[in-house]
Amino acid sequence: MCTRYFSRRVQLKRSISLVSTLLFALALGFSAFAETQVGIVLPTKDEPRWIQDQTRFESSLKTAGFSAKVLFSQGDSSKEKQNVESLITEGIKVLIICPQDGNAAAAAADAAHKAGVKVISYDRLIRGTASVDYYVTFDSFQVGAAWGNYLVSKVPAGKKGNNLYIYTGAASDNNAFIFFEGAWSVLQPKIADGTFVVRNSDKAAALAKKAKLTRDDEAAIIGQTTTNWNFADAKNKAQSNLTAVKNTAKGTVYICAPNDGTARSIADAFRADKAVKTYYVTGQDAEIASIQYIIDGKQSMTVLKDTRTLVSDAIAAAVGFMKGQAPDKTTSYNNGAVDVAAKPTAIVTVTKENVKAAIVDSGYWAADKFTNLK
Ligand code: BGC
Repeated sequence: MCTRYFSRRVQLKRSISLVSTLLFALALGFSAFAETQVGIVLPTKDEPRWIQDQTRFESSLKTAGFSAKVLFSQGDSSKEKQNVESLITEGIKVLIICPQDGNAAAAAADAAHKAGVKVISYDRLIRGTASVDYYVTFDSFQVGAAWGNYLVSKVPAGKKGNNLYIYTGAASDNNAFIFFEGAWSVLQPKIADGTFVVRNSDKAAALAKKAKLTRDDEAAIIGQTTTNWNFADAKNKAQSNLTAVKNTAKGTVYICAPNDGTARSIADAFRADKAVKTYYVTGQDAEIASIQYIIDGKQSMTVLKDTRTLVSDAIAAAVGFMKGQAPDKTTSYNNGAVDVAAKPTAIVTVTKENVKAAIVDSGYWAADKFTNLK
């Protein structure tokens, strides 16, 4: 009896210790699960484009099978670096980062690599470092080519001397160069043959005969035409360009604008000028406000870059890296230090003619976000 009682006590003790070991293991497992496995760093909350990405990330992350955290850098490279450092401390295995400034972000990518973290450049390429493992992107050259094609398509056959205004993105963003390269590939022959006359960049006009620009040539043109991706800068630049030209440079104008936010600002400035009778203006991002502008005839086109695809490609690449697999590669982009593997996603041109099919019927935005949609 006594022995049985003793052995029961031993059994009980053993069970208690088994349960506590299990609980400890569970706690360990839980803390391993609770730590952030993937860090996502986006440039700013001040542009609807990046809120789109955040929203799409947050809905896809529910089923991604890993823990993740999204942080914003608010247009500040040092905040971006702090974000990356705190994610490294949280134990991330993969960093998905859209750099505020492509060159400045190299230090953050290096810090991540040093900690054994895989680095995925998201939408914008980090430059000047070998610490980038993959680039998830749209076909940015085609974005610019779509602007050029749209503007050329609006020129009456054979008409020369059409007024062209060029605006570009921030020089700190590698994409600004790629978009411009794409636009130049279509516009340059039309500037060279006199179809277009560049009204707001003597540097672009001086390079009219040069089909393939160097990065320095592009930097010179971007230096004159940049919006810094900032709506107020875009509006001010458009207004001062309009003040600087004679009415003969107005009438019908063709405006190569680099994204939706700046396109709306530039369009507002041109629309306010009485000497501008008709304007055609490009954009990108399919922002809700710009889709409404297109419906209302205030913006001519946008480029849909389906952020759902970009987000799912980024998540697939992150999962692949965590399993030790290399993500899909169809091409590579040189970042000034190495060729970074990538699989660029196709883009879609959206105009008044296909806006319903491309934006609403595709499920990108719900119809109730717009008025007068036919
Ligand atoms: C992105 C665009 C965006 C722009 C300004 C670019 O790098 O590709 O979609 O409009 O940055 O944020």
